[in-house]
Order: sequence, then C-alpha cells, then structure tokens
Amino acid sequence: MPDYSRKDYWSGRYDTDAAPGAEPYEWYLGFDELRDILELLPEDKAQQIVYVGCGISTLGIELAKEGFSNVTCVDWIQKAVDAASKFLPEELETPPSFACADIADSTYENLAAVLDKGLLDSFLTGEEAKTATTALIDRIHGWLAVGSPLILISHSDRTKLFGSSTLPWDCSVRQVESGEGRQFFLHVCRRVDPPPEDEAEERE
Ligand SMILES: C[S@@+](CC[C@H](N)C(=O)[O-])C[C@H]1O[C@@H](n2cnc3c(N)ncnc32)[C@H](O)[C@@H]1O
Repeated sequence: MPDYSRKDYWSGRYDTDAAPGAEPYEWYLGFDELRDILELLPEDKAQQIVYVGCGISTLGIELAKEGFSNVTCVDWIQKAVDAASKFLPEELETPPSFACADIADSTYENLAAVLDKGLLDSFLTGEEAKTATTALIDRIHGWLAVGSPLILISHSDRTKLFGSSTLPWDCSVRQVESGEGRQFFLHVCRRVDPPPEDEAEERE
C-alpha cells in the first residue's frame, strides 16, 4: 500500500489526477450521499467552515451552492488546489476560497465546522501514524468554536482515536453506504471544553 501520509505521494498522484482538463474526483462518498451533513452545519451560513485535504473534490463547492458563504478548502498540493478551483461554476455568488497549506501548520479559530473526508485516513498510513493523528485531532479541537463539529468521513470507525486525544470530544458515529454498496463511517465529534480546574478537582 502507498504511504498516503507522504507529500511526495500526493504530489506525484496529482501530476496525473489534477492535470489540465482533469475531472473532479471524490474519495469514498459524493455530496449526494452526504446531504445529511447539512443538518450538522451552522444555521448562520456565513460562519466559517474549513474542508481539510480537499483534493479535487467538489464538496466545498456543493456547500457554497447550498448557501454557505464562508467555506475554505485546503490542500497541501498546489496542483490539486488549482484544479479544484477551476471546477467553480461562474454563477456561484459566494464561492468557497481555496488555499494551499499543510494542515499540520495551519491555524484557525472559532470555526463553525471542519470537514475531513480521507485526510485523517492518509495520516494513519504513515510511520508516526498515532502521534501525527493525535496531534492533528488536538489541533482541530483548538480551531473549533465550543460545541462545533469535526465531521469526519473515514473507511473505518475512528471513535477510539478521539478517546485517546488529550482534549475532550463528544463523538457519535454512523455508517453511510456508497452508491456501490460500500460502508463508510460518518463521525460527528464536537469540541467540548475541559471543565474549569476547580470543578475538575472537586470531582476527583
Ligand atoms: C484521500 S484524499 C481525499 C481528497 C478529498 N477530501 C476527497 O474526499 O476526495 C486526501 C487528501 O488530503 C491531502 N492531504 C494529506 N495530508 C495533508 C496535509 N498535511 N495538509 C493538507 N492536505 C493534506 C492530500 O493531498 C489529498 O488531497
């Protein structure tokens, strides 16, 4: 199996997949199969949502079509970001923005939601998988407003990872079937703030 955590793997892959004239590609599930996530997104559609590891997926564009006006799609491969931004329909009033950045170095705050479809799975194939993934989850915790969700779509149930995070999450998971009959896991993990120190001491 390739090491999906490596930047050079993705760079090489996007030489082909994001070449001029490339079509969009969705890992796991497309927007039609994920429409239920709309209920998890903020009522105020102007709040910021970040789609990490967007690749050449159109999920961010689909959210903008649904009226979400502050969607940021991020990937660390410039070729992917350039190709993805070319899929924007002209008539879109509030298009998502696209950024080329390494998620492990990125900083956001007060986000209304973070979407991950396949990025955390990529981290989990690397040599330092457990450490890198826990660091990623902790980082995303800090980006979210309290109560807001990380919506994580994975080929496996990742609930245990959140249990081993140093920060508190409130997670639920359900299965979603793809058009081809494959099962994927949709996690909704909300940022919970740790109780104030004196309360935590009282409970001990
Ligand atoms: C499995 S693909 C999923 C692409 C897209 N989310 C989808 O569902 O079609 C994982 C994506 O994460 C990106 N990625 C992996 N590690 C990253 C990192 N540290 N920072 C930003 N993007 C990363 C890869 O370049 C790749 O586009």
